[in-house]
Formats: sequence, structure tokens, C-alpha cells
Amino acid sequence: MTNGFFITFEGGEGVGKTTQIAQLCERLKQKGQDVVQTREPGGTPHAEKIRGLLSDPELGHSWNPQAEVMLISAGRAMHVDHLIRPSLMGGKTVVCDRFTDSTWVYQGIVQKQPEAFIDILIEHATDDVIPDLTFILDLPAEEGLKRVRERGIRDHYDEQDEEFYEQVRQGFLTIAGKYAERCVIIDAMREPGEIADEIERIALEHMNRV
Ligand code: TMP
Repeated sequence: MTNGFFITFEGGEGVGKTTQIAQLCERLKQKGQDVVQTREPGGTPHAEKIRGLLSDPELGHSWNPQAEVMLISAGRAMHVDHLIRPSLMGGKTVVCDRFTDSTWVYQGIVQKQPEAFIDILIEHATDDVIPDLTFILDLPAEEGLKRVRERGIRDHYDEQDEEFYEQVRQGFLTIAGKYAERCVIIDAMREPGEIADEIERIALEHMNRV
């Protein structure tokens, strides 16, 4: 339905998504591609306001899971409508830090929201905009936790214990198995340059196929 290419990055806290997204966007731009770098929650003015509500220092901790997933979905509906879909229709490459797989893992697997509830929110928020390629950056829970503690806590997910990190890791591995046609697991224990080379190679291979 679109001419562009939609790449998402997923994984637990501390896996190095920010570095790898910046690397891939830079490399694709150097190859002459028109790249839109974005993130969830957020990505457009309305959705960034919602992100602010979710990470509000006073209230961010106390949204109940139902409200949280509806806020995330409201932001996503605006993000898809105002940025992702128009960019793809314009032939651009969209690189997004987190998308629907994070909702299945954090709200579905961790917060145990019913699958049917999440599915319907995702269906209506995305309106059939599905990633062409998803990189799942994978790290042992202990290593993710160590890296987050070294860089400093930024939101309520960062403060969790190793058991949470392990649950998130296993959640993403399950998603990678379920959506194997678009998900690629990346071993994030290696040097950032080596990881970036692998991600660039895989991205270009997939783009050449469509
Ligand atoms: P970030 O730290 O990667 O920017 O992500 C912000 C947090 O938002 C992260 O801890 C996971 C959470 N999140 C969800 O719980 N559900 C979602 O659908 C998305 C996109 C993010």
C-alpha cells in the first residue's frame, strides 16, 4: 500500500537502540535515502504531549495499565496519521524507535492486558501500517540493567529489577518468533560498530527485495 520502507527498533532498556538508530539513519542518508527518524511514544506534537503525560514526574508512575495502553494508542493513532503514513506514501524510509511490538511486550506480556484489547487498539491506531523490518536488539537481562544503572534512570521502566528485564527480553524473543517474516534478532553484546554494520547490511538487503 506504500512506496516507502518502514523500519522499527525494539528491545528492552539499555540495549543500545539510540546509538544504532542514529547510525542506521546516518548511513542510509549517506546513500541518498530520504530518512525520517521518529519514536514512540511520541513522534508528532500531539503524541509527544502524551509521552510527557506518561513520563510526568508526579503522575507518570500512577497510570493504570488500561489508561496507559489507551494513551499510547492515542499517540500512535496521531503519529501514524500525521507522520508515518504520509512519509511512507511519499517514498521515504521511516525509522522508528519502538512501535507495536513494545505494546505487546510491555502492556500485553508484562502488564497482562488482554490480548484482544491490545489487538483492537493496535488495529485501529495503525490502520494497517505494519513495519517492513524490525530489529530486536537482544541483551542478557543482567547486562541491560547494568547499562541502565550506569547511564542513569530516565523513567519508571528503568527502575525495575532483573526479573522485569528478563520478562521483557523473553517477551521480545517470543514476538520475534511470532512475526519471523519481519523480525531480526540482533546480538547487542558486540561492539557498536560491528552491530551497525550488520544492521545496515540487513536493512539494505530487505529494501532491495521490495
Ligand atoms: P524508550 O526508553 O525506549 O524511549 O521507551 C520509553 C518507554 O515506553 C519504554 O520503557 C517502553 C515504553 N513503551 C511501552 O510500554 N509501550 C509501548 O507501546 C511503547 C511504544 C513504549
